Amino acid sequence: MKIKNLKKIVAKKALKYIPKNKIIGIGTGSTISYFIKYLGKIKNSIQGAVSSSNNTTISLQKNHIPIVKLNDVDYVSIYFDSADEINNNMDMIKGGGAALTQEKIIASASKKFVCMIDHTKQVNVLGNFPLPIEVLPMSYKYVTKELEKLGGIVKIRKNIITDNNNYILDVKNLFIRNPLRLEKKINNIPGVISVGIFSQRKPDILLISTKKSVKTIFSHN
Ligand code: A5P
Repeated sequence: MKIKNLKKIVAKKALKYIPKNKIIGIGTGSTISYFIKYLGKIKNSIQGAVSSSNNTTISLQKNHIPIVKLNDVDYVSIYFDSADEINNNMDMIKGGGAALTQEKIIASASKKFVCMIDHTKQVNVLGNFPLPIEVLPMSYKYVTKELEKLGGIVKIRKNIITDNNNYILDVKNLFIRNPLRLEKKINNIPGVISVGIFSQRKPDILLISTKKSVKTIFSHN
């Protein structure tokens, strides 16, 4: 089955976690774009959606889904998103779509997090997917040097300015055996806005689309 179809199937399955009359958070990426299309058909069942990127905002608007700002709500009931890589502990790499900072904020501000992936994103050790890091433009050389000290091979993502007017560094050659420790360490480098390791805020529910079915895994956080 094509990856595209696996993404569609898992996005449809996630609909059952949409609570009635609540504010929900919406991630970014191709899986989420299918989810938004399905959500558009039942848009009256939610109060509104908090968007994690300009691209997601455009898709929500196209589907006439009411958008609310994170600062205007008391809490977000549930956050829906995908990931670029995930290990058996539900630690993730995100940020392939350059939206990691707002994704991490909304995921952290949400009571629950549903992550939907196709099975090709499962790995034993994170790091085959280059780790995205959002940095302040004036700091990128300094941050690059600090990441090289950790063994990373760093490339600045070409022609990308994030929604927050920053740069993205993509870091190869990191075999991330302790994601929580590395997340904290990289967060501590001055100039880093956020790192695409999601270990402090992992999903509560993981949906995995395989060739045969969609598996559901509940975290024991
Ligand atoms: C966006 O910045 C990413 O974190 C996405 O969540 C991730 O890249 C998943 O994207 P796809 O659904 O396009 O695979």
